[in-house]
Order: sequence, then structure tokens, then C-alpha cells
Amino acid sequence: MPTENLSVLPQPFARDGGELCCEGVPLSMLCREHGTPLYVYSSRAIIESFQSLQTSAPFPLQRRVCFAVKANPNLGILSLLVKLGAGFDIVSSGELQRVIRAGGRPEDCVFSGVGKSAQELGQAVQSGVGCINVESQSELLQLSRVATSLGRVAPISMRINPDIDAKTHPYISTGLKENKFGLSIDDAHAAYRQARSLPGIRIVGVDCHIGSQITQLEPFVQATQRVLMFVDALERDGIELEHIDLGGGLGIRYRDETPPSAAEFMSTIGACVEGWLKGRVNKSRPLLMFEFGRAIVGAAGLLLTRVEVLKPGEAKNFAVVDAAMNDLMRPSLYEAWHEVISLTEKRPPPGAGEALCWDLVGPVCESGDWLARNRCLPLLAEGDFLALASAGAYGSSMASNYNSRPRPAEVVVHPDQTVELIRHREQLDSMLNDERVSSFSPVYSGAK
Ligand code: LLP
Repeated sequence: MPTENLSVLPQPFARDGGELCCEGVPLSMLCREHGTPLYVYSSRAIIESFQSLQTSAPFPLQRRVCFAVKANPNLGILSLLVKLGAGFDIVSSGELQRVIRAGGRPEDCVFSGVGKSAQELGQAVQSGVGCINVESQSELLQLSRVATSLGRVAPISMRINPDIDAKTHPYISTGLKENKFGLSIDDAHAAYRQARSLPGIRIVGVDCHIGSQITQLEPFVQATQRVLMFVDALERDGIELEHIDLGGGLGIRYRDETPPSAAEFMSTIGACVEGWLKGRVNKSRPLLMFEFGRAIVGAAGLLLTRVEVLKPGEAKNFAVVDAAMNDLMRPSLYEAWHEVISLTEKRPPPGAGEALCWDLVGPVCESGDWLARNRCLPLLAEGDFLALASAGAYGSSMASNYNSRPRPAEVVVHPDQTVELIRHREQLDSMLNDERVSSFSPVYSGAK
């Protein structure tokens, strides 16, 4: 069994003299300087992924790539994407504030989510968010009331649920009718007719997002075709759209998956759109939007960790590391695979026999606290540094304080070899700041 698979790493990460580096900066040096666990991102990898989605393959309509903030909401990452001209897909007032703090404009945001509160809708309308993706009739009515009371008009899309199997993990499939997201095509059509006559509402687009970590083109093609047919039906009804938002969901390689490249994805979707444009009576040219998260930042980030304790045993060999399920939740939650790579390459002497296989586990008090299973790591020793690859998306963004563990620091490495700290390691004080000791004195009723 190969001990490591560097094919999951984008180009800025490479070995140099046995040391895994980012832009030539040894990652073990970053571990010593900033401590572990540590998230490390390559800005070049993020920039290249974004640009290839935005510009690769000729495309028949103007396209706009939004970044799904939930994948990695760090201000350091968002500000990079602002400078690249990205739009943003947000799902809460908190994410809107992040985009604004990072220098982004509310007009460049689309607001998704199945349960936005009246307060969040109000904030979105008041700050001038570009489009609110409405997911139910009830939300449409609520938004009309909120916008009217503010004397504003809310730009909207309805999110349709096309009932398509994205062939991904059930927790991250969103476009099947048994999923909570969006409206069926019939219900969405009725909602558009209603929206037309509601005060405080302006129809600007249509939206669809069928799931995440999708590694085949076919579900995207099916969804695109359904959305485009629906746009035709709306146009026959006199409802014209300024944009069509096809969501995100493009997968990355964690192990041996072969997801379509940005160019393959864009040329395939572009061909669907081109065919549609040809057969269309209406000659308007709507903007084509996307909401990618993982495909922009997923491969660009690594979680670095230190081996604390080795516990070889009869049934299993455990390597207890200083990162845990609270730092990277994906393995515990989805049984996700993240490649494990030694920061300093170790070559066993000839005839050394098979390397031991290890389960990488964290210090959290649950057997579900594992990061990787059954990985062959030659000559693994306490104090070694390891990287968990493809952790740039839904890694730090899903981290928690479980077991009162402060969240990791985060750094970005730039092509000129500068290293920017974009998040300090969380301090115990700030972790406890919002809590209060209770002043209530319970009386022990059995006391004499
Ligand atoms: N748009 C909407 C409405 C979404 O709900 C999502 C992700 C995206 C765009 C971006 O999807 P992406 O391009 O990143 O696949 N925590 C899970 C992934 C959850 C995805 C949630 N929605 C994971 O770690 O795999």
C-alpha cells in the first residue's frame, strides 16, 4: 500500500529535500513557529482555483462565480476573494458581516438558506444584498412584509429543488424532494406568479443547488436542463429573469476521486446553455451565476498536527495527535477521508519490513474522535508533524470548542514566501468571555 498520495495536493505544496513545503516554506517550520494544530493555506492555490472557474473554457453567457462563505469564512481568505472580484453566497447575517469586513459589497452577495429569520431578512434588505434566494412560500410572504415595512424592494430568486440525485453523501445532498431545500418546480412556479403581485418584491433570478462534493458531470447537466426548461416556462408566463444561479457543489480529490476539472465543468455546462440559447424565442441574455465553496478552497488548505502519543496495540495501533474532531469534523461526521502526509519524509532502511498502520485519533473523549484510519506511516514517532490534506473547505469553518479546546491558528502562505497569520490561536479567556458564573445558590433540601 502506498504510504502517501501527494496527488491530492495543489502545486504550491511540494517536497524539497524530504520536507513538505508550501511555496518552498517548510511546513514543519510553521508548526514550530505557530504551534499545532495549525491550518495552512496557499493563496496561489485559492487564486488559481477561483480564476479557472471564472475564466476557463469559453462560455456562452457572462458568468459570475460566487464563493460559498460557509466553506471558509476567515477574513483573510474572504479578502483575497474580494480582490479577485468574486461574488459571495451567504447564509446568515454573520456571513454578511464577514463579507463587509473583508471589504466586499452586499450587492455582490446572494443570500441562501432554508430558515432565514425576519431579522436577517431585514438586515439583508437594508444593506442592499444583491439577491435573496427564497426557499418557501412562507419566506416569500415574510420577505414582502419585511421589505414593505422598511420601504424597500427585495430582489429575489426562488430556489428550486429539481429532484435530482447528486450521488454524494446523503448529508450533503440537497436536490432531492426528500431534502428540506427549495421548492418543487410546480410550487416554485406558483410562487413566482404570486411574487409578481407582492409588494416589496422584485423578481431577478432563479436558483438551484443540488449538493456538495459531486464528482460526476451528469447530475449537474440534469439540474441545468431542468432549470433552463423552467426559465422557458416562466418566460412563457411573462416572467423575465436577469440571472440564473446554478449553485455550487463541484467536488475535489480527497483520495482517488476524479472530479471534472473547472474547464470540463464549464465547457459542459456552457454547451447546455448554448443549446438552450439557440432554441429560445426570447433573446435576452441572463447572467449565469455559480456558488462554489469546496472547489475554490478545499485543496488549498492543510491541517497540521503533532503526534503526541503512540499506542501500538493488539487490535489497533493508535497515534494520538493534537488535532481532534473539534478541529476537523469531517471524518467523524461523514467518515470522510483526508490524506495523511508526513511533513518530514522518512525512508525505512532496506529490509525494514512493512511499516505499521496507524489510526490517527485526537485527545477528545469519544471513540468517534478519529481523523484517519489504518494509514501506513513508516517510522512514525512521537513529536512528528503530520498534515491532513484537502482541509481548506469545511475544516476550520466547522471547528468547535468541544472539550473546551481552543480553535487552531490559521496562516496563509503567499507565492513570495511571506506567511500571514490570519487567525490567532484562540485564547482561553476569549473562549470563556461570554459566559457568567451563576449567582443562584441551590439549597440542599435534605440539610439539617
Ligand atoms: N450553495 C449552497 C446553497 C450551499 O448550501 C452550499 C453548500 C454551497 C453553495 C457550496 O457548496 P460546495 O461548492 O462547497 O460544495 N460540510 C460539508 C459540506 C456542506 C455543504 C453545504 N452547502 C462537508 O464538509 O463536506
